[in-house]
Amino acid sequence: MNKEKVSRFYDVVWTEYIPEYEATEKHWEIFFSENEIRDKSVLDAGCGTGIFSIIFANNGAGSVTGIDISEGSLQTAQSLKEKFELHNAQFQKEDMLHLPFQDEQFDIVWAWGTVHHTTDPYKAIEELIRVLKGGGSILLAVYTRTKVTFIHEFIRKILVRTPKKTWTALSKIMAFFLTPVVFFFKRREKSRKGEKLEELILDWYFVPIRYYYKPEEIQSFLEERGFTIEHFLPASGRFNSTSNFIFKARKSTPFVP
Ligand SMILES: C[S@@+](CC[C@H](N)C(=O)[O-])C[C@H]1O[C@@H](n2cnc3c(N)ncnc32)[C@H](O)[C@@H]1O
Repeated sequence: MNKEKVSRFYDVVWTEYIPEYEATEKHWEIFFSENEIRDKSVLDAGCGTGIFSIIFANNGAGSVTGIDISEGSLQTAQSLKEKFELHNAQFQKEDMLHLPFQDEQFDIVWAWGTVHHTTDPYKAIEELIRVLKGGGSILLAVYTRTKVTFIHEFIRKILVRTPKKTWTALSKIMAFFLTPVVFFFKRREKSRKGEKLEELILDWYFVPIRYYYKPEEIQSFLEERGFTIEHFLPASGRFNSTSNFIFKARKSTPFVP
């Protein structure tokens, strides 16, 4: 049931929002290069409107599979693919907790801001590990648990219980009252090409499922499964935001569970 709530949510929120290509590609380059991905098979798990799939495909990946549970987001991803005239990317509706792919099918698995929106993030990571080849790379961007997380969660748990039809109005009102940060967001809105504070609030406080972790929790989970951490960023380079931390890690060959 919760999964349906999440897919319905992402069918409404962010469905048409596509982060700016060049800025996003710069952040992607922190983790991957054209050489590293050439002719490789990539899974973009929870691809949303598809910007990272497009970046992988446009930089020479052999094949990119973008999966998501939100049909609305996948439609936007499909039109983006057509706009870029790419033939090495495909999008399909799948749940990352039950992937229809073979063991060790992909060279690279990319999951930016997604596992923490599933009903069982560790199970999702296990599933992503299953479909990753030995010697392949996984990238995980995950919400950070901080000292103030409980305040955000307290607010979110109240707000998700309000009637859905009031959500847009509520987020507009909250955006209005968050006056001290509005100036900052006006600047950010420009640099992120149209992402509005009220949409950010909607995504932050109204999303049905949201888990938070300490980096060391995800690190031990990966290391216990034979992964070597190759890159750790304590904050998301994509949005200069402290809300996500990122691990890029390599799966051992052969896989030691
Ligand atoms: C915050 S968005 C991130 C989208 C994209 N990765 C990006 O960075 O632009 C989270 C995405 O995860 C997707 N998602 C949530 N649960 C999922 C699941 N169980 N299987 C596949 N996708 C899921 C949502 O539909 C949504 O598109």
